[in-house]
Amino acid sequence: MKNLKVFKNSRVIVTGHTGFKGSWLTAWLKQLGANVMGISLDPHTYPSHFQVSKINKGIKDIRLDIRDRKKLEKKIVSFKPNFIFHLAAQALVGSSYKNPQLTWQTNVFGTLNVLESLRKLKNECNVVIITSDKCYFNKEVHYGYKETDVLGGKDPYSGSKASAELLIKSYVSSFFDSKSKIRIATARAGNVIGGGDWSENRIVPDCIRSWSKNKKAKLRNPNSTRPWQHVLEAVGGYLCLAINLKFNKNLHGESFNFGPNLSKEYSVLDLVKTMGNHWKNVSWKKVTKSKKKYFESGLLRLNCKKANTLIKWKTILKFDELMSMVADWYKYYYLNKKYGSETTSKQIKKYQNLAAKRGMSWAKI
Ligand SMILES: NC(=O)c1ccc[n+]([C@@H]2O[C@H](COP(=O)([O-])OP(=O)(O)OC[C@H]3O[C@@H](n4cnc5c(N)ncnc54)[C@H](O)[C@@H]3O)[C@@H](O)[C@H]2O)c1
Repeated sequence: MKNLKVFKNSRVIVTGHTGFKGSWLTAWLKQLGANVMGISLDPHTYPSHFQVSKINKGIKDIRLDIRDRKKLEKKIVSFKPNFIFHLAAQALVGSSYKNPQLTWQTNVFGTLNVLESLRKLKNECNVVIITSDKCYFNKEVHYGYKETDVLGGKDPYSGSKASAELLIKSYVSSFFDSKSKIRIATARAGNVIGGGDWSENRIVPDCIRSWSKNKKAKLRNPNSTRPWQHVLEAVGGYLCLAINLKFNKNLHGESFNFGPNLSKEYSVLDLVKTMGNHWKNVSWKKVTKSKKKYFESGLLRLNCKKANTLIKWKTILKFDELMSMVADWYKYYYLNKKYGSETTSKQIKKYQNLAAKRGMSWAKI
């Protein structure tokens, strides 16, 4: 049963389930029949995918600060999870400059508290810890980083994610050897796009906010390229990794990159035009770059051959399919004035079927 069926009736903890990626992951796990406990703070945008898609229904929805070790440990140990996906983090580079201490405490000590809780767990558990593509020491060159490349990070967010990687490796070698009931792998994905993101200063939510009011979207860097991937591609990667971790003990302690194929690159303008094909009356204008108050590393690309080879994962959506999925989600929300829970579950089903059809054995059920 090396596929999504393993999650049926499994006990699964998702930290960060009120956030963008965590809410899509939780929705997918619910659809697979998992018994989910989510541990997070309240959603930090309004609206949010979590609230709009009613992710809280049918799960144990816990609001708890992961910096509180005792409370976190109690929840994790008493739930006896078969799987844990640890996504809770202060996830924004900009906020990490405003609040470096909170970022380090959440991303490093929060992860430490998860690892400490795992030491108390008596049952078998497969754990996927989500760090970031930003954990690599970015040389600002046109290169796809491999899992063996040097870690680093200039800004507090990237530094904290690189440190979390070191922390996890140290715990694996010190406390969770190859015979341990606990198996851990880390997942490093790049920026994701998808329905239900309302964060500030991101190209997709910025366009949608403007277009839904019949205004022009403002493009700051129309020619920049980014390795765009749909949130379900990355989240599918996390599920695929967890399945493989359960069946292959050699993956314990390993890290995996999750990103799109590097042979084709798309610019911000390509993204806006393609998404615009799926929306009514779109327009945009180029605006002069505002001077950034802080340093943010440039383009980061990932080499994902390890995931392709060892766990048979790759992105499956063509660019137009990706952008139509993104636009459709928001269209349903804004143009039909309906909530998104149906759209979310339809998109998950569609993506899962497509992944299975396109040769992803982990998605076949
Ligand atoms: N979104 C991306 O493009 C992207 C790219 C690379 C890595 N990541 C990583 O993926 C994970 C999820 O990212 P996201 O975009 O969904 O972020 P998000 O900001 O939307 O969600 C973060 C989640 O973490 C929770 N959280 C934050 N601080 C907490 C605390 N102290 N205690 C408990 N919960 C806390 C929030 O409540 C929320 O549920 C993060 O670890 C992030 O670093 C995201």
